[in-house]
Amino acid sequence: MGTSVDEARKAERLPLLKGQKALVTGANSGIGRATAIGLGRMGADVVVNYVSDADSANQVVGEIEACGVRAYAHEADVSREDQVVGMVSRMVEELGTIDILVANAGLQRDARLTDMTLAQWQKVLDVNLTGQYLCAREATKEFLRRGVVPEVSSSAGKIICMSSVHQIIPWAGHVNYAASKGGVLMLMETMAQELAPHKIRVNGVAPGAIRTPINRSAWDTPEAEAKLLELIPYGRVGEPEDVARAVAVLASDLLDYVVGTTLYVDGGMTLFPGFATGG
Ligand code: BGC
Repeated sequence: MGTSVDEARKAERLPLLKGQKALVTGANSGIGRATAIGLGRMGADVVVNYVSDADSANQVVGEIEACGVRAYAHEADVSREDQVVGMVSRMVEELGTIDILVANAGLQRDARLTDMTLAQWQKVLDVNLTGQYLCAREATKEFLRRGVVPEVSSSAGKIICMSSVHQIIPWAGHVNYAASKGGVLMLMETMAQELAPHKIRVNGVAPGAIRTPINRSAWDTPEAEAKLLELIPYGRVGEPEDVARAVAVLASDLLDYVVGTTLYVDGGMTLFPGFATGG
């Protein structure tokens, strides 16, 4: 009998998303990178969006193509309306349509409240929240135009909003980031309510502490990692592939009746671990 890891690896090769076209923003590193590759492994053609570092985006494209599907890299700043419009229309031209949007691009610009500059506040809101709105809006126009194609998917389109445990956990020193992710929760739920009658499924994925460049200082020394693990009941830091698998399954028809939900991928970080012994 296989281990659960073997089973997960096997599941990664299931062509659950065969024939679907996916756009993953911020796909040249971290969670976006793993997600773009994960969707490719599940049979989707993938557009790899990035805003800087074309080399790493092209490397992701290579890994996806090795799965026998189509992929290309597209440079665009998700907070710029013209660039998002251009990105989605090119995708429709080159791949024919879009079935899955993973609105993943996000960043942190951390500072205590009184030290935070308006530019730091604005940048995080622009990319993390406005970026998701713009990408979702443009993808939805195509979902509505095309409608359901039953041979491809039971729904007219899927939007996965990459959120964070900080959509519900306040985070001192990161007021811009926590506010952006709180906004992503309401953006996601409101879009889900508005678009469900059109057979468009909108859901969120909320990662906890995942081993990526965004939070390197929280895990790259044994001391930092031990401190971080106090917040994670499951006893390990997450890997980008943990999130990638969640996104792929959520985007697939296996979860066709899941609408407006957040899937937390956090090893239990949202379970108030301090209360395991206190209270
Ligand atoms: C942040 C990480 C952080 C994690 C858990 C994520 O959304 O980007 O920096 O480690 O939440 O706090």
